[in-house]
Amino acid sequence: MTVKKRRPIILDGDPGHDDAIAFVLAAAFSDELEIKAITAVGGNQTLAKTTLNYRKIATLLNLKDIPIAAGRDNPLLADLVIAPNYHGESGLDGPTLPEPEVELCGLSAVELMAKVLRESEDKVTIVATGPQTNVAALLLAHPELKDKIECISIMGGGLVHGNWSAAAEFNIFVDPESAKIEFLSGVPVVMSGLDVTEKAYVTPEEWNKIRNIGNPIAKTVAEWCDFFYIRLKELGWPGVLMHDPCAVVYLTHPEIFTWKDCYVEIDTEGEYTKGATVPDYYGLNGQKPNCRALVDVDREKFVEIMYEACKSFGEGK
Ligand code: RIB
Ligand code: CA
Repeated sequence: MTVKKRRPIILDGDPGHDDAIAFVLAAAFSDELEIKAITAVGGNQTLAKTTLNYRKIATLLNLKDIPIAAGRDNPLLADLVIAPNYHGESGLDGPTLPEPEVELCGLSAVELMAKVLRESEDKVTIVATGPQTNVAALLLAHPELKDKIECISIMGGGLVHGNWSAAAEFNIFVDPESAKIEFLSGVPVVMSGLDVTEKAYVTPEEWNKIRNIGNPIAKTVAEWCDFFYIRLKELGWPGVLMHDPCAVVYLTHPEIFTWKDCYVEIDTEGEYTKGATVPDYYGLNGQKPNCRALVDVDREKFVEIMYEACKSFGEGK
């Protein structure tokens, strides 16, 4: 019997409630995804807080052998913008998490990512769900390793609107220069932008079903949704937006998504549009597509996949 090869991935993010749920899903899909490294970046909260959060989540998931590294605390050029109004003072407010039993690996994020790329027999997929600062730093420091990257599956951007400014989504708004470096790198980008992530929502009734699965991880996911929905409900959303999980679920269930392959440029200068991800659907600039932009999702199937993933950690108390 041939054993199906798992896709090696690096998780880079700014947990953040949806980054945390993306981590849980990646762990649940362990028969398809092999998490080779975790790297934290400043974004939803400061680097110190997002790094601590990754260490706590790894402890919760009992994944204590995956190396974790802290990346860049500030964007390439801009000042860091954080989002405590969504994620709280810790960056992961809500349920009490276990004290971390995982230490940092002693390398920087770029060094750890480069090590994984160098040592991997197969190309590695980078899942980047925060500002793209660490990824850009890797591409600048190690252009010779670009060919070892299968693709960069990001949560970021929006083809027609933003959520931090009218034109820019938070991750790209925070560090547009890094996103520009990434989209110009020649490495294929899969972009889970707001066009798809705002359709990938989970309603309170749906995440209560996840809570009722009863295992500690399912309960924690539900309690993360409880907190993350506080601000989203004020904005009128029907449920919790599963922004970052889209960047993971695309890798294991691409069939539930619809996309447009197009050339996307990042605006780094606009007075009103800085951080915008601007699609050139018709190839007007003569460039080949650099991005697979997800634009729709079968929401019910997405929720079912999330439910089954949480259930895979066991049933009952
Ligand atoms: O705009 C949503 C993105 O910003 C998500 O990645 C969320 O975690 C925040 O980082
Ligand atoms: Ca994030």
